[in-house]
Amino acid sequence: MSQSAELTPEILEQSSNISNPKEKKHVKIIKQTYKNNTNSDYTEKLWDLAQNFDYASNSNHYWGIPELSLLYGTPLYEEASPSQKLALNHLFWVANYHYIAVSESSTSMYNMITSGVFENLGGYEELCKELELETDQESYHIRTFQKVAYKTKTSLLGKTTLGNPLASKSDKGWLGKLLPKPLQPLFFSSQYKTIFSGYQDYALSFIAKKMLEGKKQYYSQYLRELEQKDHPIAAASEGISGQVAPRHWMRFFTFNWGISPFMACQYYCLRYTANAYLKNHEYCYYKSFQELEKKGEFIPAPTAISYYHLLDESFHTTISQTLAKDMYRELPQPTAYEKFLSGKILHMMQNNMLSGLSGALPGRFVADSPLFMLFIYKLLKSPVFGMSNQDSLYWMEKSFCQEHDGFHVGLKYHAKLLEALRRVFNCLEYQSAVNREMRIMAAGGSIDKAIKGNIKVFEKFSRSIPQSN
Ligand SMILES: [Fe+2]
Ligand SMILES: [Fe+2]
Repeated sequence: MSQSAELTPEILEQSSNISNPKEKKHVKIIKQTYKNNTNSDYTEKLWDLAQNFDYASNSNHYWGIPELSLLYGTPLYEEASPSQKLALNHLFWVANYHYIAVSESSTSMYNMITSGVFENLGGYEELCKELELETDQESYHIRTFQKVAYKTKTSLLGKTTLGNPLASKSDKGWLGKLLPKPLQPLFFSSQYKTIFSGYQDYALSFIAKKMLEGKKQYYSQYLRELEQKDHPIAAASEGISGQVAPRHWMRFFTFNWGISPFMACQYYCLRYTANAYLKNHEYCYYKSFQELEKKGEFIPAPTAISYYHLLDESFHTTISQTLAKDMYRELPQPTAYEKFLSGKILHMMQNNMLSGLSGALPGRFVADSPLFMLFIYKLLKSPVFGMSNQDSLYWMEKSFCQEHDGFHVGLKYHAKLLEALRRVFNCLEYQSAVNREMRIMAAGGSIDKAIKGNIKVFEKFSRSIPQSN
């Protein structure tokens, strides 16, 4: 990871060489990260790979280690044919990067919102430029993932199972231009045009402004422009921010991130979580790339995309970590309201995004929902397996409701992510012990609990499926 910018001793050393010795550590790291990121070409490399991607040329190879496969470790996986195993490995990549693409779309918006606050704070020109560069990179990442995912899904499952409704042609502003059409319905829905939602945004922004009255001078230009045009704040229904909190909560958090410098830094705790979550899997693809390269073997394009994405994201991770852990210390102490809200955000994030364990997707840390079961059901009915209703339910029961290796693989990834998050959150003295030690997430790492929950959900789910085909 030569250009990787995570907080390594090299980065710190390079930083001290290029800048004023009186400069604070976090300022040096930001400047060095911006410089390294500007000089890197990972975005271009992954974008080229997407332009030339063709499923057939990559379909006979694993794109990552076998445990990065849907249904890995389940009795069904053991029975699956070699071609089904390959499909499960490819669909894991697709599912994972669909989630990442939606999450990165939200990230882009929050980058712009918080950048507006840092601009008003002054002295953070490189940070603003870095956030702009990251936002630009994300737009390439998102379109790359979508392109590969679309071609793969179409080849494996056919067009009919995609079901991506196109968004209406209403003006969605800057975010509308960034998002590929299939992702737009996840951000914009008709509910935003109702009078109620307009009042709701007004009320949420009013509360945030009232509670942060002394910080008006930092109000983000991005939010100011939305307000002037009477545009609502977009909030995703999927991806990480869609999972962290219901849309009205996310919009409320957004107003706060866009007014107070402390809250703007605090947003980067959430972004760091997203970075660490992504890296938890992506590092395995990164290692696969290196091993294949060393052996001079064929490297599937998605593996290479993951490799370059991890390198690009390492700059973003450094920025998230620096803002979440260091930069806020240079600001005035948080008010009781800011402390409360920061605690609420991490608490909700743990509860809604990290408090469970999946039986069918190793590395997914929420309880398996009826919606996720429907996704697996559709997969078993698809041309990949071509099962009857009865057979699908039989194998689903074994995957979701009985202990198998997949749960143990999930636990392994759970432990890795927990450690990465604790490393950063443990330093946040303004957070409660529940958040610093990620206690809710830790309690969710239980196979027993996951199976008990799945039995209840699956019983209900299976009753909704007709017994005959
Ligand atoms: Fe990205
Ligand atoms: Fe990123």
